[in-house]
Amino acid sequence: MNIALFASGRGSNVQAILDQTQPDHVPVQAQCLVCNDPDAPAIDLAKDYSLPCLVLPSKGISRSDWEAEVLAYLSQYEIDYIVLAGFMRLLSPNFIDHFKDRILNIHPSLLPKYPGTKSIEEAYDNQEKETGVTIFYVDAGVDTGRIIDQRRVKLDPDWSLADLEDQIHRVEHEMYTQVLIQLAQEGEDVNDR
Ligand code: GRF
Repeated sequence: MNIALFASGRGSNVQAILDQTQPDHVPVQAQCLVCNDPDAPAIDLAKDYSLPCLVLPSKGISRSDWEAEVLAYLSQYEIDYIVLAGFMRLLSPNFIDHFKDRILNIHPSLLPKYPGTKSIEEAYDNQEKETGVTIFYVDAGVDTGRIIDQRRVKLDPDWSLADLEDQIHRVEHEMYTQVLIQLAQEGEDVNDR
């Protein structure tokens, strides 16, 4: 199963996926990284892993022009799934339709609770007993798509916000590749029928 990774920031999920999909027996192959921020540390990962990378700043360009360039770039690879990992730009309904039910995102809360960009902080400030991580199919809304998998993180009252962030990211890094492998295996089953 071929994936294109999309990131805008640190890229710790990109790194986890690249690390975990290195072995030949893993049925998930990252073909490229698409990055919309020229300063994103994730770009260096592409160099480290010899992964082709499109850096196309989204500032100063219309959404439709940006997406048209990205689609043209992706057309050289046979991409099965687009995997958003800290990608901070909304995709248009047109782009989403192009990869219908084949764009995944990861979010640091138990959606539908705490959508948006401050989910970990909000759960912490509200002294939730548990929060977690959600992987879902991207639709035209913000963090609203069909949920594929969720994992819970129980909050320890002694944790700082940084402790909770570490725990959430640890779960994210375990979970994303597992979900991708599961999708690849389900795809193989369908093709075998
Ligand atoms: C993660 O917490 C992910 O859930 C959210 O953005 C963050 C990206 O972190 N969508 P990183 O860039 O993968 O380190």
